[in-house]
Amino acid sequence: MIYNILTIFPQFFDSPFSTGVLKKAQERGLIEIRVHDIRQFTSDKHRTVDDKPYGGGSGMVMKPEPLGDAIKATKLKEAKSLVMLTTPQGERFSDKIAKELSGFEQLVIICGRYEGVDERIRELYVDKEISIGDYVLSGGEYAASIIIDAVSRFIPGVLGNEASPYDDSFSEGLLEYPQYTRPEIYEGKYVPEILLSGNHKEIENWRKKESIKRTYSRRPDLLDRANLKVEDLEFIKETKKMNPPSFRVYIALVHYPVYNKDLKIITTAFTNLDVHDIGRAARTYGVRGFFLVHPVEEQRELVQRVLWHWIEGPGASYNPTRVEALSIVHIKSSLEETIEEIGQREGVKPKTVVTDARFRGNMVGYPELRKNIRKGEEPYLILFGTGWGIAEDVIESADYVLKPIEGPTDYNHLSVRGAAAIILDRLLWS
Ligand code: ADE
Repeated sequence: MIYNILTIFPQFFDSPFSTGVLKKAQERGLIEIRVHDIRQFTSDKHRTVDDKPYGGGSGMVMKPEPLGDAIKATKLKEAKSLVMLTTPQGERFSDKIAKELSGFEQLVIICGRYEGVDERIRELYVDKEISIGDYVLSGGEYAASIIIDAVSRFIPGVLGNEASPYDDSFSEGLLEYPQYTRPEIYEGKYVPEILLSGNHKEIENWRKKESIKRTYSRRPDLLDRANLKVEDLEFIKETKKMNPPSFRVYIALVHYPVYNKDLKIITTAFTNLDVHDIGRAARTYGVRGFFLVHPVEEQRELVQRVLWHWIEGPGASYNPTRVEALSIVHIKSSLEETIEEIGQREGVKPKTVVTDARFRGNMVGYPELRKNIRKGEEPYLILFGTGWGIAEDVIESADYVLKPIEGPTDYNHLSVRGAAAIILDRLLWS
């Protein structure tokens, strides 16, 4: 593999590749790192590589001519090549991309600087734009050195032991299992016995399980993309059973006070489908209680009968999983009563969150609320409105108003059970 690095700071690369694995890989001819100074491709007396942006604005833009000339002069025609630009606007770098890139014979890496490069360079020459994370570095040189390190590890022979890059974190889409070395006891802590057993099959099994457990607790988002067998999925199920979520979330379906189409305050009737579907979503996502809030006694009695049918009556033997979902459903006559009940259970009043399909000022986004909820420090009650949405008074007295759910179209008229399922997924999973 030949790396052609195009930079305005060639001296940056004096040290990153002069030690360890990458130094050895160069000595053994497995990789070759060629650093080119973009200034050598300028034609003016001042060796200018940047200029002011057309249209005004702060910062400088990398000029197209020196960059274009540098690419043309350094890119080897005969090699299977890819021209890359390091930029925070690029595709997020990952182990998977590193592996793909290791299949090329040559990577031309343009280290972006200033406010970016002239757009025509991207259009004419760049095959792939890569970001190493959602933060801005003072130059693409840092990104280039990280990319070169990660890519080189996948080049056969670079790590000496061919299998090793595939044992590391992410190789199967999982985080790596815990590692130990001598001594057997350190500050009272023992190395797991299985690792001393010499039973390689058992050790392999243990490691796989530890990888799964670690990935589940730290990066559950990775599990979706991981390469897992049926027995691994069974183990994940077990792990989930043994480690119920620590967040303390309750939800309520509010039938009063809500708006009708003409924005008058009304009371809506129970909808059987909502009770079942939101109950099933709530149970799936680890919600501690699903409260049905209705001020009309006859309606509460009616839904109580429906619940009885599924929890204790004939429905229970017909569909045992429904028993589990509907057992977390509770019927209350008002929001105040609901909040009080949660306060008693949790020892502290819950933070209330309202969901609404309309945009307004001061709304909380999903990542922020999710982070707070998942700390598990306080209980939360998420309110879902029926009809045309929850009344303004309730919205104003809530601790948080959650941003409306948005899809890739301008249509925004979800059913409450559809919205509830999406919101639970965004807030409580991966
Ligand atoms: N240049 C500046 N910030 C960067 C980032 N996050 N990734 C790649 N190149 C960059």
